[in-house]
Amino acid sequence: MSTFLQFDLKPLNPILPSNNSKCITKHTSRWSKVNCSATSKVKHYSITLLPGDGIGPEVISVAKNALQLIGSLEAIEFSFKEMPVGGSALDLVGVPLPKETLSAAQESDAVLLGAIGGYKWDNNEKHLKPETGLLQLREGLKVFANLRPATVLPQLVDASTLKKEVAEGVDLMVVRELTGGIYFGKPRGFSTNENGEEIGYNTEVYAAYEIDRIARIAFETARKRRGKLCSVDKANVLEASMLWRRRVCEIATDYPDIELSHMYVDNAAMQLVRNPKQFDTIVTNNIFGDILSDEASMITGSIGMLPSASLGESGPGLFEPIHGSAPDIAGQDKANPLATVLSASMLLRYALGEEKAAKRIEDAVLDALNRGYRTGDIHSTGYTLVGCKEMGEEVLKSIDGKVHAAV
Ligand SMILES: NC(=O)c1ccc[n+]([C@@H]2O[C@H](COP(=O)([O-])OP(=O)(O)OC[C@H]3O[C@@H](n4cnc5c(N)ncnc54)[C@H](O)[C@@H]3O)[C@@H](O)[C@H]2O)c1
Repeated sequence: MSTFLQFDLKPLNPILPSNNSKCITKHTSRWSKVNCSATSKVKHYSITLLPGDGIGPEVISVAKNALQLIGSLEAIEFSFKEMPVGGSALDLVGVPLPKETLSAAQESDAVLLGAIGGYKWDNNEKHLKPETGLLQLREGLKVFANLRPATVLPQLVDASTLKKEVAEGVDLMVVRELTGGIYFGKPRGFSTNENGEEIGYNTEVYAAYEIDRIARIAFETARKRRGKLCSVDKANVLEASMLWRRRVCEIATDYPDIELSHMYVDNAAMQLVRNPKQFDTIVTNNIFGDILSDEASMITGSIGMLPSASLGESGPGLFEPIHGSAPDIAGQDKANPLATVLSASMLLRYALGEEKAAKRIEDAVLDALNRGYRTGDIHSTGYTLVGCKEMGEEVLKSIDGKVHAAV
C-alpha cells in the first residue's frame, strides 16, 4: 500500500491569498496571537480543510463560505488548502492519513475537519480504517484538550429531552483531557486470576504535567467565558483523581480571577440533568469527559448543531462537528451544516483570537434560525425546511446583514 504514497499528493483545492500581507504566527503558546506587519491591515491565516467522507464535504463547503465572507468583512484573509483524510484518502492513496495531509495540517494556523467514515470501509483492517486516520491526525497535531460546548439555543429548546425550564439558558463547555488516563494507561490487557478465571484490566494513570496543561487550558477557557470552572474527579476513591485535584488547585493560584469548584463525577452526571445551568466550564479526565460530554450534548437535543475543538500546547488546533459522516443522508443535501459553521466560529475564537468574527458567525447562525430556517434534523411544524446548501446561503445572508436590509 505504501507505494501509493509515492504520488505527489497536491491540495484538493488550494486557494491562495491575493495580497502580500506579511504575518507571522507564533506557535509558542496555545493562546498566542498572530502578528501582522504594520504595512498591511489585512490579517492572514492559513487553514487546512479536511472534508473527509459522507456529509463532510457538504458541511465543510458551507463553513468555508462562511469563513470567506466573514474574512472579507473583518479584514481577514484566509488561504485554504483542502486535503484528503479518512475513507476518501484510502480511496485516493491507500492510507487514511497521507503524510502530505498531516504536513499541511501541521504547517497551517488551524484545521477544520468535516467527518470521516462510511459503510464502504467498515470491514477494513484496523490500520486501514478511516477512524485510524483521525486518531493519527490527533496524535500528529499533539492535541490533548477537547472542548465541547453544549448550548441550548432558545430557538431549539423544544429539541431537548429535558423540561423546557431546565434546558433553557444552558450554556456550558466540557474540557476533556484527550490523550491520557485509562484509555492509554499501562498495564492493560487480558490475563487469568488466581481462580483461573479470565480477567481484563486497564490502568487509570496521570502524570502531573498532563493535569497541569489541561487545567491551564480549562482556566483560560473559563476566562473567555463566565469565569467559573468546575473540576470533576473521583478523588474520594482514585489516587489518579487525588493527584488531579491537587494539581488543579495548584494551577488555580495562577488564575485568582476564576471561581474554582470541585465535584465528584457521579454527582456531576446527576447535576447535569438536574440543573445544568449551574455549570459554566467543566474540566475532567479522558473517561469522565467522554461520558459527560455526550451527556451534556444530549441536553441540547441535536447532534447537527454541536461543534468541538481539540487543542494542544502549541501548533494548530483541530476543529470539527461532533457528528459523524452520516452516510444515510450523504450526497442528498440533507445535512445540517451548522455544527461545522459553529466549529469554524470556535476556530476563529480559540485558534486565531478573532473574537469579533467568531461572534458574528454565531449571531448569524442564530439569525438564520430566528428567521425560521431548519434542516430536517431540527425541523418541526411551522418552520421552513431547507437543505444543507440553502441553510448555508441563509447563514451567509445573516453574516452580511442582507436579510435585514431587505426586510
Ligand atoms: N469525528 C468523526 O469524523 C466521526 C464521529 C462519529 C462517527 N464517525 C463515523 O461516521 C460514520 C457514521 O456513524 P454514526 O451513524 O454512528 O454517527 P453519525 O453522527 O454519522 O450519524 C448519526 C445520526 O445522526 C444523523 N446526523 C449526523 N450528523 C448530522 C447532520 N449534520 N445533519 C443531519 N443529521 C445528522 C445521521 O443521519 C444519523 O442518522 C461511521 O463510519 C463512524 O465511524 C465519525
